[in-house]
Amino acid sequence: MTQPAPLAETVATLDAHGARVQGMFSDIARGYDRANRWMSLGIDVLWRRRAVAEVLPEEAGTGSDGARPRILDLCAGTLDSTLELHRRYPQADIVGGDFSAGMLAVGEAKLQGEARARIVAEQMDAHALPGPDASFDAVFCAFGARNLSDLEAATREQLRVLRPGGRLTVLEFFRPRGLFSRTFHACYNRTVLPVVGWAATGNLGAYLYLPRSIGAFVSIEDYAALLERVGLRVIGQERLFGGVAGIVRAERPRGEA
Ligand SMILES: C[S@@+](CC[C@H](N)C(=O)[O-])C[C@H]1O[C@@H](n2cnc3c(N)ncnc32)[C@H](O)[C@@H]1O
Repeated sequence: MTQPAPLAETVATLDAHGARVQGMFSDIARGYDRANRWMSLGIDVLWRRRAVAEVLPEEAGTGSDGARPRILDLCAGTLDSTLELHRRYPQADIVGGDFSAGMLAVGEAKLQGEARARIVAEQMDAHALPGPDASFDAVFCAFGARNLSDLEAATREQLRVLRPGGRLTVLEFFRPRGLFSRTFHACYNRTVLPVVGWAATGNLGAYLYLPRSIGAFVSIEDYAALLERVGLRVIGQERLFGGVAGIVRAERPRGEA
């Protein structure tokens, strides 16, 4: 794979919201993994594993003929999902893309052996992806979509870089609709989560932002409708832990340029 530009804390395409979010994640980067494990008691690891299970379309290359499948892990943060993708698809070349140099630096330190050869961490804004059209077999995004300034514009970018027949998989805390998930978010995310997040990272603001961003995000149904509107075909929706989190799978229709 070609090597990306060196990481810096400047990304030309960011708006004010993006710059704030970028600064926030860079600030919590060192404690981010610890906070995730403490807050979810390890459930996030199981969710990631579940989400990566069907990321590549079945016909995507095996690597034996030299045509390695290409996966973009968008909003990859500290590369936990990227590494999970590598474990599931060791034959794939994976780009872990994120606009926070701090998050990516923590992730890069975790890459060893074959993972270091197959995974490239690349700084990028999800609203202006660097790859050419149709350059990925799959795009994956875990807990990143909620942070975007313009979800529809970023989705168009994901569609653009996917090859026809390529898959988008999104794992997210969608806005809860059911009684259990609404109660869980209201109780846990507004009380336990900020305290645990603050203890793990020293940044209370970031973990007050998290429940706010969930409340301001779209429901899983509205997200699926947005994907269809932009031109993707939704092929699956899965609710996790009573709808507290969800996975949406979609593909770029074939028969397009
Ligand atoms: C909650 S973290 C998720 C990280 C990782 N996917 C995981 O599951 O642990 C959200 C990530 O999205 C990144 N992010 C937010 N907006 C972005 C954007 N516009 N472009 C690229 N990355 C973005 C943040 O820097 C952060 O690392």
